[in-house]
This record gives sequence, C-alpha cells and structure tokens, in this order.
Amino acid sequence: MAAHDRDPRRLLAELERRLEALDQGGVRWLNVAADPDAARPAPQPPVEPPAAAPEPAPAALPPAPEPHPAAAAPVAPPAATPDAPPGASADSAEHPSQWDTLEALRDAFADCRACKLCGTRQHVVFGVGRERPPLLFIGEGPGADEDAQGEPFVGRAGALLTGLIHAAGLVREDVYITNVVKCRPPGNRNPEPDEVASCRPILQRQIELLDPRLIVSLGNVPLKVLKPGAAGITRERGVPFGYQRWTVLPTFHPSYLLRNPAAIETCWQDFRKAVQMGFAPR
Ligand code: URA
Repeated sequence: MAAHDRDPRRLLAELERRLEALDQGGVRWLNVAADPDAARPAPQPPVEPPAAAPEPAPAALPPAPEPHPAAAAPVAPPAATPDAPPGASADSAEHPSQWDTLEALRDAFADCRACKLCGTRQHVVFGVGRERPPLLFIGEGPGADEDAQGEPFVGRAGALLTGLIHAAGLVREDVYITNVVKCRPPGNRNPEPDEVASCRPILQRQIELLDPRLIVSLGNVPLKVLKPGAAGITRERGVPFGYQRWTVLPTFHPSYLLRNPAAIETCWQDFRKAVQMGFAPR
C-alpha cells in the first residue's frame, strides 16, 4: 500500500464507499479480518478439489500452471484494422509476443492506436496487481472511472469486486486485474468484435507473462473470448474450463451483481472456489 493511502481519513472514506457498494449490491455479511495477511487463505488442500484444478506440485506459490487437458490451439493474431490511425498497434510489426516483461508490454501500448477506441479514451487501462498471481481477474473493458484513473475496476462495479476480494481475505495487490479491451468503449457499451480482436494479442501476452494459477473471467465478454461457443455466463459460471495451459473459472460480472443482488450469493460461491483453486498446494 502506498504511504499516501495510509491516511486514516482516506482509508475510512474508501471503506465507506466500498461498503456502500456492497450494501447496494445486497451483501449483508462479510468475513473480513482486520489484517489481510492474517486472513490470507491458508495453503491447505481444497475442501472439494475442483476437477479442472491444476495438478499439485511442490513449488511455492505461484508455480507455473500445468497444461490443461482441454488446451486450445494458439491464438492467431487478429485481422488488420485498415482504418486504424498510426502508432503502436497490437497487429503491427511490434507484435505483443516480442515483449518479455509486463512493463515493456505496457509501455509499448501506452499510446496504442490499433482500433477506434483510441479516439475517445483518456487512458489505456493496462491492468494492476502482482506478477504470477494466484488469481487473474479479466473483465470486459474500462468504464468512465477506470478511463479517468487509468486503473481497472475502480468505479462502483470495482468497489464490489474489491469488496469480494477483501471478503475472501485478500487485497487487490494479491491478484491481478485487467480487461479484455484496454480502452473504454463509449457509453459503456460492450466492446465490438474488431476492438476485442485488436486487443487480443495484448491480453494473450499478458496472460503468458503473468502465468496465473487461475483465471477468473467476469461476465460474458471474457467468457466468450476465452471459450468461443460458450453457452452464456448463467449456464457456464462456476464450471472451470481449459484455455491453453491455464484453467479459467467463469463467474458473473460485478456490474450484473449490482443490477441483480440476488446473484451475489452464487458469485460468492464461485469466489470461494476460485480461492481454493488459486491457492491450492501443488
Ligand atoms: N467493468 C469492467 O469490465 N472493467 C472495469 O475495469 C470496470 C468495469
């Protein structure tokens, strides 16, 4: 946590903001410990090991996940976007696969102009969190707050996601959070296929460099990117599947939970499963 974030008044205001979002979302009870480290999930075997969990291995967290049996074929680079303005682009000669660190990848696409979203965005919202995370959360795309601040999931939906992360005994810095598209779709519409395709190599390289123990996809957009032909989040949530050498657990998007508070209980079950899978000993 940065020093300026330790200001008690700011912490209190932030806490109130998050609790209010949880309250609006229908959450009435949270098992939040005072010290997140104390509440960090103990590296114990899962109560009921999920079928698609990565194989146990003796290495300390976060070890490299085992290839998933349902591994998909490598992702092809997206089709060119003829109308894209000049500049660093995900489908130019500067292909994301050539960057060996997250920082280099972020810097290379800090002024990405691969698709039309570059014309309306304020920030390229790359992602936040730790490298080789137990959990990698993937949302749809930045909203207005995220676009203004340059950080994913900092608005109302973000407060709910952060509250769920805290309720699981974690802090945001314990995980990594990003989106399918890194620039805000105007009016908070879903990203369009060409926008998803333009950003896809960046997301792919992010996943490779982060090498998460478990990917948690939030809502339909990342689900359908990682599992084309998926039935839809209501049918697929809570059921792990393989994406290349990673395992993905789909769950509801926090924005959906804000509109449908009754679904929070179900999402919480997915969160518990995600923590079990992400922190399971190898
Ligand atoms: N919704 C998303 O999908 N991502 C964000 O970063 C914020 C809201």
